[in-house]
Amino acid sequence: MHTSLLDILRCPFCGTALAIAENEALSCAGDDIESGVLGCECCAFPVVAGIPVMMADERTQQALDALEADRGDEALLGLLGLSDDWARRDRFHALTTKDSATYRDVLELLCTDAEGTYFLYRFTDPTFVAAEALLRAIGQQPWPVQGRMLDLCGGSGHLTRVLSGLRPTEVGDLVPSTVLADAHFWKLWLARRFTSPDSGAVCCDANHPLPFSRGTFSTVLVADAFPYIWHKRLLADEMMRVADADGVVVMPHLHSSLGDNFSPGDRLTPAAYRALFESHQPRLFSDERIFEDIVERHVVDLTCDVSPEQLGGEPSFTLVASARADLFRRYELTDEREVTGQLSVNPLYRVERHGASSVLTLTFPTTEYEAEFGACRRYLPDRISVDADLTGPILRETLGVRYEELRDRRVVIDAPARYC
Ligand SMILES: C[S@@+](CC[C@H](N)C(=O)[O-])C[C@H]1O[C@@H](n2cnc3c(N)ncnc32)[C@H](O)[C@@H]1O
Ligand SMILES: [Zn+2]
Repeated sequence: MHTSLLDILRCPFCGTALAIAENEALSCAGDDIESGVLGCECCAFPVVAGIPVMMADERTQQALDALEADRGDEALLGLLGLSDDWARRDRFHALTTKDSATYRDVLELLCTDAEGTYFLYRFTDPTFVAAEALLRAIGQQPWPVQGRMLDLCGGSGHLTRVLSGLRPTEVGDLVPSTVLADAHFWKLWLARRFTSPDSGAVCCDANHPLPFSRGTFSTVLVADAFPYIWHKRLLADEMMRVADADGVVVMPHLHSSLGDNFSPGDRLTPAAYRALFESHQPRLFSDERIFEDIVERHVVDLTCDVSPEQLGGEPSFTLVASARADLFRRYELTDEREVTGQLSVNPLYRVERHGASSVLTLTFPTTEYEAEFGACRRYLPDRISVDADLTGPILRETLGVRYEELRDRRVVIDAPARYC
């Protein structure tokens, strides 16, 4: 973590600022703290692999003890959930000492359930596509991205990468423009290593007060996560507290209790979610409409907010709250063609060489994935042939006149380096 993160970090329990303890646990490279201990007026928090852990559970205490006993590796393995599993610990060391290790390799080691599948293919699932377009749309206005942005419950940083792209941290910038926060350390570790290395990461529990100072962020994003939080009233107040006066709260893909959802969480009705954000002037948008607009018309229309009654039993919707009325306009989406990572075939495709061509076949990882995210067929073709070798590194020139089409349809994606 960059030391400037201390300007905005606050203890979730006593609310005071934090200072670095000058002890043996401290390891820095310039202004970046790799590991160490942060102290507030009530307790201490470990920083491991550059990630401050602002929690007070048993695992965090063990990490703190390990750090203070000069066993930094033990602290890391404990937070990653690998303490007692020697085979996985050895595999983790073997993998992470190799430069060639990919996000997919380490993800498969750290997560063995359906969440791993969700994250690996996250960059092109329909809910990501909608959230990404919404963020890029509001990012066209200069103001929302002038300050820092928070991706709360941000998982392993896929949308954080989109936020960072709205206002990249420039050479010479001391402070990352974007902060990713999640309760699971392993997700943050993957984000810092692969998905969104330019952002700061903070491990914290969104069921508690957020570990940030008031009025810190111009954008507070919670995507596909709010229903998993039990203390919704507290979190809504906290999201509005950490947003600045002009700040925007963005919540794509909110599960409604009036519709059917996969992995629903503890859902509320649209009216109840809206009431939680009442003081920040929330507006609701139909996810079905947002998706159709993006896929068919390349538009995000924030003039067409709807009432809870109009949403009816739609399974999910999007909430955007801001005092800035000029945010709520119609945005034409511009094609995003710059490559910030590396061009890769979407991992949902199986690639086979046929002479000089490559044949790509859409292959869902599981039937459950297909059931949940099958709407990706609206842009991903079942099968497509390209006159180029797509089994190795891909350059724009490799794709020639097919470049625009393959990017548009998300058959070829701009993935982080060493993603899969
Ligand atoms: C479905 S994932 C969405 C991840 C990310 N927002 C995205 O759109 O890619 C839900 C995320 O919420 C996080 N989460 C759940 N409960 C949390 C809590 N109490 N505090 C912080 N994060 C939490 C999970 O760890 C998970 O990464
Ligand atoms: Zn404290």
